[in-house]
Amino acid sequence: MPRILKKFELVPKIHEIVVDAPQVAARAQPGHFVIVMADERGERVPLTIADYDQNAGTITLVLMVVGTSSAKLAAMAEGDELYAMIGPLGHASEIDRFGTVVMVAGGVGTAPIYPIAKALKQHGNRVISIQGARRAELLFWKEKLSAVSDRHIITTDDGSSGRKGLVTEPLKELLEDDAESIGCVYAIGPAVMMKFCAETTRPFGVKTVVSLNTIMVDGTGMCGGCRVKVGDQTLFTCVDGPEFDGHLVDWDTVLSRHKIYTAEEKCSLDRYIESRQLN
Ligand SMILES: Cc1cc2nc3c(=O)[nH]c(=O)nc-3n(C[C@H](O)[C@H](O)[C@H](O)COP(=O)(O)OP(=O)(O)OC[C@H]3O[C@@H](n4cnc5c(N)ncnc54)[C@H](O)[C@@H]3O)c2cc1C
Ligand code: FES
Repeated sequence: MPRILKKFELVPKIHEIVVDAPQVAARAQPGHFVIVMADERGERVPLTIADYDQNAGTITLVLMVVGTSSAKLAAMAEGDELYAMIGPLGHASEIDRFGTVVMVAGGVGTAPIYPIAKALKQHGNRVISIQGARRAELLFWKEKLSAVSDRHIITTDDGSSGRKGLVTEPLKELLEDDAESIGCVYAIGPAVMMKFCAETTRPFGVKTVVSLNTIMVDGTGMCGGCRVKVGDQTLFTCVDGPEFDGHLVDWDTVLSRHKIYTAEEKCSLDRYIESRQLN
């Protein structure tokens, strides 16, 4: 089973995990994800392949602790083996010559944005990245993202790093300045952030790609748990995505389906915390 080679906390509650997974690394492309299980009774957790090294046979995952299963994964140590991992899953990102691309990353969304930005840069695009977080201490991979960007703008909600405000503000300014030159905008982060990025680009008619983090179960198109409405179609994020046209996504459904298991998730986390305290 895939072994954890390296694991450390990047910023509070966000962990970088390097996993020995040569077969996954050999086929990984930007936009792909894996589904992992910490133990036999764990949930199946989708995580983006944030980086990969085909020579070393490793993939890098960046995990934010939000509930029971992510907490179980975060509690694993270097040398431990994951119970299961499948992937790469999903469609790879479209890596084309767009001219200028604006990559908007919110919070843990920096991890999935990075490999796409890197590939778009290598493909000859001018990459402008906008990286946002609630406060300075939650920003990670600043240097990595900056290294693959021609321009790197940081925003924080409280102004503790970069400019104070939301990622949509510099995005709007870039569009007002020269929307013609922007061939594509990528936005990855919390659903509400992606929704407002899509609303910002809509009047300018600039192609906007988002990566949806819907609740998933099997990850193979069988259960319907990850379904989303995109235009007049019902699609499955796991096999049709995870990237979709942000202007066509029905954001109200995405946002309401995220909250569907809130009571069960809270109950599960309370039980997990209690069991750790007893041990
Ligand atoms: C294709 C894909 C790629 C992803 N990539 C990453 C990644 O690279 N790094 C990362 O940290 N997370 C990523 N996620 C989100 C991650 O899978 C979830 O955060 C995780 O499954 C939550 O499990 P949990 O049991 O810890 O939390 P739960 O107990 O299930 O939920 C706790 C809280 O988190 C919210 N939540 C639950 N599932 C999701 C979700 N899928 N996305 C956002 N919020 C959720 C719930 O609404 C709830 O408030 C990805 C999701 C998808 C679908
Ligand atoms: S996770 Fe079951 S259909 Fe996508």
